[in-house]
Amino acid sequence: MNITVIGSGYVGLVSGTCFAEVGNKVTCVDIDPIKIKKLNKGIIPIFEAGLETMVLNNVKNKNLFFTTALDKALNNSEIVFIAVGTPMGDDGSADLKYVLSVAKSVGQLMQKRLIVVDKSTVPVGTADKVKAVIQKELDLRGVDIEFDVVSNPEFLKEGAAIVDFMKPDRVVIGADSKNAFKKMKELYSPFFKSRDRFITMDIRSAEMTKYAANAMLATKISFINEIANICEKVGADANQVRLGIGSDQRIGYNFIYPGVGYGGSCFPKDVKALAMISKENGYEAKLISAVEQVNDAQKLVIAKKIVKRFAEDLKGYTFGIWGLAFKPGTDDMREAPSIYVIKELVKRGAKIKAYDPKAVNEAKQYYLKGVKNIEYLDSKYDVLNDSDALVLLTEWKEFRSPNFEKIKNQLKSPIIFDGRNQYNAFSLEKKGIEYFQIGK
Ligand SMILES: NC(=O)c1ccc[n+]([C@@H]2O[C@H](COP(=O)([O-])OP(=O)(O)OC[C@H]3O[C@@H](n4cnc5c(N)ncnc54)[C@H](O)[C@@H]3O)[C@@H](O)[C@H]2O)c1
Repeated sequence: MNITVIGSGYVGLVSGTCFAEVGNKVTCVDIDPIKIKKLNKGIIPIFEAGLETMVLNNVKNKNLFFTTALDKALNNSEIVFIAVGTPMGDDGSADLKYVLSVAKSVGQLMQKRLIVVDKSTVPVGTADKVKAVIQKELDLRGVDIEFDVVSNPEFLKEGAAIVDFMKPDRVVIGADSKNAFKKMKELYSPFFKSRDRFITMDIRSAEMTKYAANAMLATKISFINEIANICEKVGADANQVRLGIGSDQRIGYNFIYPGVGYGGSCFPKDVKALAMISKENGYEAKLISAVEQVNDAQKLVIAKKIVKRFAEDLKGYTFGIWGLAFKPGTDDMREAPSIYVIKELVKRGAKIKAYDPKAVNEAKQYYLKGVKNIEYLDSKYDVLNDSDALVLLTEWKEFRSPNFEKIKNQLKSPIIFDGRNQYNAFSLEKKGIEYFQIGK
């Protein structure tokens, strides 16, 4: 099948590449000419395991193309995906300006029947808006071209995006025509080997499914973080409580790990957007708002522990940071807890030495740009020299089993603040390391 994917970011690039991998002819379009130039030179603008090889192979096989020219791409395609960003607007709602501007371009440029698929995470009712914008443009042109608008939310996880896309738990398709369901199933069938995992539904339910899924996951995280904070107050150990509750199959072990809170490009904005969607429709989503409030406070829990251990004024102290990305396996730093922790420490006068296997450029260029007193180093052990403590903020695999003797010898004082509860408190105490974690 010939398809176009508009927006070549995390979702668009991964989706387009995976569609190409199973034999489709895919054109990825972006308005950012620098991004497209890089992609055409074989330079992948994001880090995602396995992506680079897959992109290069499919470009070589002539299944994958990159362009800024939407008109050409559209007129070779049966299906067009909208995979542009839906960032948080000033009031917390999802900003649809990119989605609707793409819809406008599609309406202005389409020449033949098309299935337009919303893959971006969009509020309930967006498909109707997309439909109206396209129809308006067709009317202005005085042409009568049939098109469907479909909702096909994306559930991939950054850090495991290729695997998630190639072997999805489910593919949710919200549509209102037989033709759209048929074509969408045809496109996705190669991703299901043993049995299909399509979940078909009406468009609004599909749009809502994405928000409900992210809100559920964020709720689990804020729930365990709140339990962890209570544990600290009452002298319980959140790590043991986690095991105790996770063993109940109705609860499960996933997403109940105490830590410095969730970040990333999805949970923060989608939780906020869901609260706004509810409000706009006359319902106050108290639980969803509380999930966000707990998370905002959680991002600073580790900084508070540092202040309590050292001083309110951190002038003269240096902290070695392990991990900047919002989670392991990605260079993405959008809403990463590290941003909040580092800014708080710097605000209090501390110096920072930071290491991350993938996200240093993102930090330097965007998320910590202009923040003073940060030095970036190429090795996790180098950040320890002359530092008063180690602060772990992202649970990269390479931090799981470090050389604790080295940590102890290089730090000015053997202290670890662990924002991801990676280590065993008992064994660190035996090694003579002062150890602070979440929920204990
Ligand atoms: N990142 C994730 O893990 C993830 C997972 C599931 C769903 N989503 C959703 O998918 C959507 C995209 O997210 P992302 O992380 O890929 O965003 P992103 O910011 O990485 O990429 C968006 C891309 O769209 C391009 N763009 C903007 N306007 C355009 C236009 N008019 N024409 C062509 N290109 C245009 C931008 O230049 C950018 O390259 C969002 O709605 C997000 O919520 C993201």
